[in-house]
Parts: sequence; structure tokens; C-alpha cells
Amino acid sequence: MTRLIIAVSGTPGTGKSTFSKILAEKLRAKLLSLNDFIEENKIYTLAPDGTKVVDIEKLRRCFARESRNLRGTLVVEGLMAHLLPKRMVNHVVVLRTHPRVLELRLKDRNYSEAKLRENVEAEALDIILWEAVEYHGIDKVHEIDTTNLTPDEAVKQFLLILEGKATARPGKVDWLEEHFKAN
Ligand SMILES: Nc1ncnc2c1ncn2[C@@H]1O[C@H](COP(=O)(O)OP(=O)(O)O)[C@@H](O)[C@H]1O
Ligand SMILES: [Mg+2]
Repeated sequence: MTRLIIAVSGTPGTGKSTFSKILAEKLRAKLLSLNDFIEENKIYTLAPDGTKVVDIEKLRRCFARESRNLRGTLVVEGLMAHLLPKRMVNHVVVLRTHPRVLELRLKDRNYSEAKLRENVEAEALDIILWEAVEYHGIDKVHEIDTTNLTPDEAVKQFLLILEGKATARPGKVDWLEEHFKAN
């Protein structure tokens, strides 16, 4: 069995965990949460204010070691999934959500006002998408806007992409003008 690694990234609240759980079930794939992986392997240092700073190089090394003997399909999801070693990752899905809708989703999470703003603006500015395309090149990255899709519909869309029956090339989503006009 050949190895297939699908990385699912996006701003917090865009639906990575929900999407990836469904996708892994449909593909009968293994599911790896990078949050858990980072905790279990202590892949972070503590900043003076107590926040955890992820060591990207260590994350890449640990992930490479972890998946060396992997067979079959792996869905790996998390805020940094688009930064995993490019020679290992076959597809990168970047989930997108309209900043206004994202704000509502994050409000349910007891985020501080500063953290909420930071994430909503990161989404408006396409930060993760840029990072993903910069690192992996445009062909491997698929951009899916989940604003008006159920998680099941979003997964269906990606399965079509995987079968080569649809495309979701990066660059279709653009909320910048609308976001800054409204603020
Ligand atoms: N496609 C979607 N449409 C509407 N709500 C969604 C969708 N995907 C996820 N959600 C909801 O948004 C919230 C954040 O989803 P989650 O999967 O935890 O995001 P992430 O892992 O990216 O932070 C959850 O309450 C989830 O139920
Ligand atoms: Mg999550």
C-alpha cells in the first residue's frame, strides 16, 4: 500500500478538526492532531509570558520520524499542518471562513479580544494560504471556503479533488477589501 499524507490547515475556527475527522473516516485513514502531537512530544518552548512557542524544525523532525513506517493514508490536521516537510506531504488543504462568520465561531471559544482580532485579521489577510503556497507551490495546495458549506459538503468537495474530478486552486477567496471597508 502506498503512503498518502493529507495536511489540513487553516486559521483557528475554520473547521480543521471537524473536517479532518470526517475525511479520515471516509478514507479509512489514520488521523493525527498536531496539537496532541506537539503536546505529547513537547515540541515547544515556553515564552516568558507562559505562551507555548512551537519549534518548527523539531516538529518537522518528529513528524518525519513518526511517519517513516507509515503505510496507507494519514490525515494530519492543525494550525501548522501546512509547514510539515514538503517531501512527505501529498496534498495541503487550507480551509477558509469569512472573517465575520469566523468571529462568531471564535466567540464561542472564550478567546480574549486580542486573540480574536489577531485570528480574524489573519484570516482576512490569507496568511496561512500564503505560507502554504510559498512553501509547497501552488499545485499541491487546495483552498476550500467552508463559510456556506456543511463539514460534510466540504469533505465531499475535497474527495472530488482527490479523484481529479474538481479543482480548488488557491487565490479564489478574497475578503480583504470587504473586511477593511467594514471595520
Ligand atoms: N463547515 C462548517 N460550517 C459551520 N460550522 C462549522 C463548520 N466546520 C466547523 N464548524 C464549527 O466551527 C467550530 C470550529 O470548528 P473546528 O473544527 O474546531 O475548527 P478548528 O479545528 O479549525 O479550530 C466548531 O464549533 C464547529 O462545529
Ligand atoms: Mg482544531
